[in-house]
Amino acid sequence: MGLLPDAVIAQDDFVLVRRVAPSDLDQYFRWYKDPEIQEYMSNPHWDPEKPKSDFRDIFMRKYLIQTSDRLSMTICAIPGKRLVGQVMLFDINRNEKTAEVGILIGDFSDRRKGFASRTVKLVLGYASEEMGIRKFCCHIMKGNRASENLFTGIGFCRRAERDDLSELRRYEFVTDV
Ligand SMILES: CC(C)(COP(=O)(O)OP(=O)(O)OC[C@H]1O[C@@H](n2cnc3c(N)ncnc32)[C@H](O)[C@@H]1OP(=O)(O)O)[C@@H](O)C(=O)NCCC(=O)NCCS
Repeated sequence: MGLLPDAVIAQDDFVLVRRVAPSDLDQYFRWYKDPEIQEYMSNPHWDPEKPKSDFRDIFMRKYLIQTSDRLSMTICAIPGKRLVGQVMLFDINRNEKTAEVGILIGDFSDRRKGFASRTVKLVLGYASEEMGIRKFCCHIMKGNRASENLFTGIGFCRRAERDDLSELRRYEFVTDV
């Protein structure tokens, strides 16, 4: 079955961002259990020996079921709509007009091709136009140079060092649109 048109959040000539679909489970599971991918993510580390059936529940709760304060999206390459990553808006506060953004480009062979920068720009545009969000932040673990460069390249500025967020130090980056 094809995707409903409203499943597409935003796209340009290189990347398409859409709502998470049940059929994304297998690819998400492959990414999730990769220890290198887990390194800079704020998720608890996943035991790669655990079966997909255990992950299904996380996939449902965290990615498939949308809530008013969270929007989980899948990033696809154009053409072909091959899955390349995931992007999330969370802690969406429509009164304060704020949200946090997080992104993963799953396979290393897809990195450094512009998928993340294109995606973040599209998602920020969508969130500002459709949800009225004006201020975005992201929390980046110390040493995650790729992510720091990505977000500062898009216009985020480092605001503070936060060590209350986890046992690992993370910097907070913010931008206004
Ligand atoms: C961070 C991440 C999302 C970047 O994705 P990407 O698609 O490779 O990024 P882009 O190709 O759009 O690169 C945009 C800019 O980010 C910076 N960047 C990306 N990868 C980099 C790296 N390995 N080293 C240094 N800078 C890097 C560069 O400034 C780059 O611009 P340039 O290629 O013109 O120099 C990706 O490395 C990733 O998924 N990492 C693991 C998960 C993660 O850390 N997520 C962020 C949590 S906040």
